[in-house]
Amino acid sequence: MSLNEYIFKSLDSNIPKHVALIMDGNGRWATLRGLDRSKGHQEGVKRISDVVRTADKIGVKAITIFAFSTENWSRPQKEIDEIFALVRKYLKEERFNEDNVKITFMGDHSILDEDTRKTIQEVREKTSGNTGTILNIALNYGSKEETLNAIKTISKDYKNGKIDIEELDYNRVENHLMSKGLPDIDLMVRTGGEKRLSNFLLWQLAYSELHFTPVYWPDYNELEFINSIKEYQKRERRFGGLKL
Ligand code: FPP
Repeated sequence: MSLNEYIFKSLDSNIPKHVALIMDGNGRWATLRGLDRSKGHQEGVKRISDVVRTADKIGVKAITIFAFSTENWSRPQKEIDEIFALVRKYLKEERFNEDNVKITFMGDHSILDEDTRKTIQEVREKTSGNTGTILNIALNYGSKEETLNAIKTISKDYKNGKIDIEELDYNRVENHLMSKGLPDIDLMVRTGGEKRLSNFLLWQLAYSELHFTPVYWPDYNELEFINSIKEYQKRERRFGGLKL
């Protein structure tokens, strides 16, 4: 039995359905090695595929990754261009259909360049029939913007007499979030040592388990992902209730 097989077997049957990932530490990983920050992002992209394949092997249904936040526009233009070039390359070259991976997106893409928008549309269509793990990519995503848009839509529906305030419940709010249709997020992992949410899925993470690891994203390999799942399996989820 290989080490990896042994480790897979050490997991119990309580596999999270949906794992969200903040892929932090690319820049520091590169700087530590005397490399340009872009090398950290390049190496980081490879880990996305590693994580998705492992997720599929162990039965995780969906992975949401924070590829670019609404706050990341404040980075130098050169780095922004490099990140978007990597996103396009990844979406164009990765063989999602061979792995039965379905690609979905969150975020406001209206301000993205045409090539990126076209690439997004193509990969969305090309993988829409796949039934394996969902890779949901948050690109120009911010949770506060998402919430604000949901409030605006609901307010318009109210103004037009489409809904009654008394009818408004969690489900109806969730139907206006970009995560609509995805399973609840059981586990959120942030690599790179920072312990904050950075405007990521603030509503959706209300009852998720959070795992903060000091490992930089480019070092977050298959075994590190399994470690996060094992950490999740140690947690006792009570959703505000008492232990039964
Ligand atoms: C955080 O590390 C990383 C990002 C803001 C970008 C993540 C993007 C990718 C891995 C590539 C693109 C994604 C896809 C879908 C192909 P950081 O730069 O903030 O690291 P630091 O905190 O060490 O500076």
